[in-house]
Amino acid sequence: MLRVGIIGVGTVGASVANILRDNKNIITARAGKEIIPTIGVVSNLHKKRDVDIKLTDNIDDVLNDNSIDIIVELMGGIEKPHEIVKKALQKGKAVVTANKALLAYHRYELQELAGDIPFEFEAAVAGGIPIINALRDGLSANHIKSIQGIMNGTCNYMLTRMINDGVSYDEILKEAQDLGYAEADPTFDVGGFDASHKLLILASIAYGIDAKPEDILIEGIDTITNADIEFAKEFEYSIKLLGIAKKVGQEIELRVHPVLIPQDKMIAKVDGVMNGISVVGDKVGETMFYGAGAGGDATASAVVANIIDIARRGKGSPMLGFEKQPGEKLSLMSKEN
Ligand code: HSE
Repeated sequence: MLRVGIIGVGTVGASVANILRDNKNIITARAGKEIIPTIGVVSNLHKKRDVDIKLTDNIDDVLNDNSIDIIVELMGGIEKPHEIVKKALQKGKAVVTANKALLAYHRYELQELAGDIPFEFEAAVAGGIPIINALRDGLSANHIKSIQGIMNGTCNYMLTRMINDGVSYDEILKEAQDLGYAEADPTFDVGGFDASHKLLILASIAYGIDAKPEDILIEGIDTITNADIEFAKEFEYSIKLLGIAKKVGQEIELRVHPVLIPQDKMIAKVDGVMNGISVVGDKVGETMFYGAGAGGDATASAVVANIIDIARRGKGSPMLGFEKQPGEKLSLMSKEN
């Protein structure tokens, strides 16, 4: 049996607990053991939540509980979860996080600290799409030539509704927030920062690039004007916020910005909260991954997949994580290029 403590029981945390309960039979069979969501940490004990696990507002109740094997970190932010994840790993607890901002700044350090202790983060990029798994495992025979795609569900939802339905920016941002897609501070979504965090995680795995958001070009959808929307509609283009990683010689170009795309292209058809990511490998050619990029159940699906995997593997067989030298020496292209 494995016991799980969930730090942050919001939309995703509640879905993790509920999936572990609702799909218990198949999860037990696939994990080879029972997985019990034992306790959740929240900041406000009085807020009503759709979960049936014990709740506490004291993180130490989870960190100091020797019966908890796996910590699921879903609290958001950077510095506080950084301390908590470090403490959890130092105590020998496996960690699963969906926190892309944390990983954008501290991924190598945490991976190194984890050593043989499982430290997994599939849900940090593109919600329910198993893109990290694909890069680490399914495409591991390839040099990755490029990774390009829609990596922020909120922006894609907003752009789709603005272009297709003529809904205003402010109205649709509120809608994305109400649906639980947006970050606590939606500037991270609309400013392109959330997409940059995800791009950096993917670039770490594919290329071993150890860069920070400040090192790459980031432009969000908050710079899009009504004229851009009108132009896109009139000439049958879609506007998509893309995260782009390209291998150019021994350099990796990384950028996030809105792109005008003819409506008949596959990526242009990825609408609403969906994410779509194209990965080109030197042997496999182009592969395309599509699925919900945000939302409680979709994101929790990836968190629970990591938990099941940890249950199967146990300690001592860490998966490929952030590789500083993935077989060749690559460097980040200057953002001034
Ligand atoms: N705010 C993020 C998005 C959540 O909209 O994509 C999932 O990472």
